[in-house]
Amino acid sequence: MADSSDAQSLEQAPVYQPPSRLQTGEGGVPVAHIKSLEEYWTMYEQSIRDPDTFFGKMAQDELSWSKPFNQVRYGDFKRGNVSWFLDGQINVSYNCVDRHALTNPDRVAIIWEADEPNQHTHITYGQLLEEVSRIANVLKKYGVRKGDSVAIYMPMVPEAVYSMLACARLGAVHSVVFAGFSADALRDRILDAGCKILITADQGKRGGKTIQLKKIADEALGACPSVQRVIVFQRTGDPNVPFYPPRDVWWHNETANQRPYYPPEPMDSEDPLFMLYTSGSTGKPKGVVHTTAGYLLGAHITCKYVFDLHEGDVHGCMADVGWITGHTYIVYGPLSNGATTVLFESVPTYPNASRYWEMVDKHKITQFYTAPTAIRALRRLGDDFVSSYDLSTLRVIASVGEPINPEAWNWYYTVVGRERCALVDTYWQTETGSHIISPIPGAVPTKPGSATLPFFGIDPAVLDSQTGQELQGNNVTGVLAIRSSFPSVTRTVYDSHIRYMDTYLKPYPGYYFTGDGVTRDQDGYYWIRGRVDDVINVSGHRMSTAEIESALILHPACAEAAAIGVPDDVTGQAVVCFVTLKPDITQDENTIRTAFVSTIRHHIGPFASPKRIIICGDLPKTRSGKIMRRVLRKIAGGDVTLADLDDEQALKNKLGDLSTLADSNIIGSLVKKVIAH
Ligand code: PRX
Repeated sequence: MADSSDAQSLEQAPVYQPPSRLQTGEGGVPVAHIKSLEEYWTMYEQSIRDPDTFFGKMAQDELSWSKPFNQVRYGDFKRGNVSWFLDGQINVSYNCVDRHALTNPDRVAIIWEADEPNQHTHITYGQLLEEVSRIANVLKKYGVRKGDSVAIYMPMVPEAVYSMLACARLGAVHSVVFAGFSADALRDRILDAGCKILITADQGKRGGKTIQLKKIADEALGACPSVQRVIVFQRTGDPNVPFYPPRDVWWHNETANQRPYYPPEPMDSEDPLFMLYTSGSTGKPKGVVHTTAGYLLGAHITCKYVFDLHEGDVHGCMADVGWITGHTYIVYGPLSNGATTVLFESVPTYPNASRYWEMVDKHKITQFYTAPTAIRALRRLGDDFVSSYDLSTLRVIASVGEPINPEAWNWYYTVVGRERCALVDTYWQTETGSHIISPIPGAVPTKPGSATLPFFGIDPAVLDSQTGQELQGNNVTGVLAIRSSFPSVTRTVYDSHIRYMDTYLKPYPGYYFTGDGVTRDQDGYYWIRGRVDDVINVSGHRMSTAEIESALILHPACAEAAAIGVPDDVTGQAVVCFVTLKPDITQDENTIRTAFVSTIRHHIGPFASPKRIIICGDLPKTRSGKIMRRVLRKIAGGDVTLADLDDEQALKNKLGDLSTLADSNIIGSLVKKVIAH
């Protein structure tokens, strides 16, 4: 949360005007869709005052419907029955593929940049239609019908995109599981969604390393009786990859034998399009459900306006399709707009830290989208990796996943954007489906570290977290909530509407609760402060403390565990775990720590590995037995020194009220442990 010194620094934050070339078209760049702050405010105010007219027109003008909708909007956050574009029928795959393929079959839809830097492929919209149709026919052959769930556990290859669009084409609900998740995590997601089919690959390639996707999938499938068929794409062709017919079939054999056309199924606007699991405050991830028309409209219009996408643009979103950013800004948003989207299989530092910039130069990328953690890591490695590349095609550079600190913002703006691009810091969530607070490139002046102003139709409220009262006016800090429904907001949690209500709509009745803290500054600009719940954000990967604790507790040596997030210069936050051991554990601490890390990797995935594991005698608890995480956060963050231990007042200043602590002696031993470790 912001304190008064923060408030002061916000007042002094520098303001950057939108690049004038985006407003004038100077140098031959396309003139921005929205060219001034006034234009933005006019559209924004209309979207809030009269959403029916605003979004009704957007939906008609921007999307292709097989049956027009009769009513723009129904339901609200109070009742949890939000719905948009009622009675309409539309197919997302038709909108992302056919409408461009039929008119411009040779336009490039996807540039696939493989792990090895000298390999890339262009896939046209015409080819995309054929590939999507073939795999849709395979799915149909294996009994997938409208409403069935299909799991996709794929590396960053075009076949992952074909699979998603094929599901959308026949009305199946995809559940993409990030390829960095472990077998246990994949199993839990397949079981929760009751998937009939899994689409995976023999192996994945990333940064020169091979990922054993099929082996991991086999391990998961041992406990997934609902999966009748596994379609395996051959990425590497390694002959040692296990293959079990008749359950397993090869992608290339199956698709070769199918017709390259499949008629798109007309879907109701509110039919589910996909679910995507994300972490919340409990140990069990939630299957966030997005529906067809509202999600597509959100993806389409944010891509158009926030990235200022124009015909011929090459959109470079560096995320993975396993996360919401990949869904919305690699697949659905750019393709719905008929742009060329870049699918990047590798990592920014392979084979060296120029990889991104070499790609921008080579593919003439116009919009570049990445996370602050990548920017910070690349900034540390120095400007030389960037300066020799021609980045003149870039118009919009963008950031997502966590607040971007001003140092990283300035580097991105100056060294990558060369002070001639708009830098848009886009705030949103898996649950919102598309951007909700973000600058508009040709219109909204930016301040480093602020996501600036709300997108169309987003009516933010800053609430007092305790009373739920709205904090009116500017210069206020509280929790961020949204007053009224917008097209791309999640409609439910898969098979768990009660959880949906409890997590998002009941904490502050009538509002959608984001889980983030926020400050609205003197100019009405929003500054996201990070999560106010038990969610940790490491390199833009969202995980819950409970998930990590549940994994640790499965290890036979672990008696009790508390996971917390601490600030980290590169990854934003890092995970620190405090663990107490069961009696009679004789191994040395290093061995046990290593075993705990592998438990977490095994149950969640390597990306959840903690930065530190501190083995301690006891955890600080209240008299009612609740672990005092705020105390652990301060201690792990190095806020408390040995000298403070003898100074009651200093300790109180740093750790806050300790009167509810059951055993006050514990603080000293924890501080000593952290310092010694
Ligand atoms: O805390 C906010 C942070 O990421 C959370 C959403 O995570 P996830 O659902 O995984 O989606 C990530 C990609 C959209 C939010 O609750 N977050 C995301 N973008 C920003 C951000 N925090 C500050 N600034 C952002 N631009």
